[in-house]
Amino acid sequence: MTQVMAQPASQSSTQAVSVITIDGPVSSGKGTIARRVAVALGWHLLDSGALYRLLGLHARNLGVSLEDSDALVPLARDLPARFIEQRGDLLIELAGVDVSDFLRTEEVGELASRVAVHQPVRDALMARQQSFAQPPGLVADGRDMGTVVFTRAPLKIYLTASPEERARRRYNQLKEKGFDANLAALVEDIRNRDERDMNRDVAPLKPADDALVIDSTPLTIDDVLDRILGEARKRTLV
Ligand code: C5P
Repeated sequence: MTQVMAQPASQSSTQAVSVITIDGPVSSGKGTIARRVAVALGWHLLDSGALYRLLGLHARNLGVSLEDSDALVPLARDLPARFIEQRGDLLIELAGVDVSDFLRTEEVGELASRVAVHQPVRDALMARQQSFAQPPGLVADGRDMGTVVFTRAPLKIYLTASPEERARRRYNQLKEKGFDANLAALVEDIRNRDERDMNRDVAPLKPADDALVIDSTPLTIDDVLDRILGEARKRTLV
């Protein structure tokens, strides 16, 4: 079963556990792929973006400024969050309140990207992220999993796709949920977010030197999954 909750692990067990990192730009499909890989292997899953989203939301709820790095650090260290696997769904609680759906909104994504620019905040979330590395293994999804958080991971994936393809996928998702969407505006938005993520001073988005880059533009989710599982087998992780 894929466990999405983990207790803090000691440093030694963190290093001994196999980790597959999956980093990539917005709408590259890494969330979906990371979950599929974790389920296929029966490993734990870390959605690191959810931690940044939780912190942004927590700070806003408490009236703490998203620019005040000193005030954000203790909140990041003691984030009152719980990840609960329930009937195949992931329930995320913040201070006892179910925020699973609200967490995914653009509004909270914006709060997340504002707290994520502070290096002390990123450092404060580091131990929490590393604590997800528990046996039998971890799939970690984010922007800096391979470059900063799990630098010794034996398999690092950098998943990308063209801005047009990512916009098309996002457009289809929004339409399926009954939202209005404009494809050209989505392409523009994705280009802007790439520019910001790749050129920010703190933990910029880039493939780790030893990452395997997968361009999923012409691929299906199953193709990408097969490729990653094949690599995991080749490296005798499974
Ligand atoms: O992946 P997700 O969209 O949930 O991430 C929300 C925001 O959190 C991102 O836009 C990014 O600014 C930040 N983030 C980060 N490092 C990570 C994961 C997310 O800076 N490892």
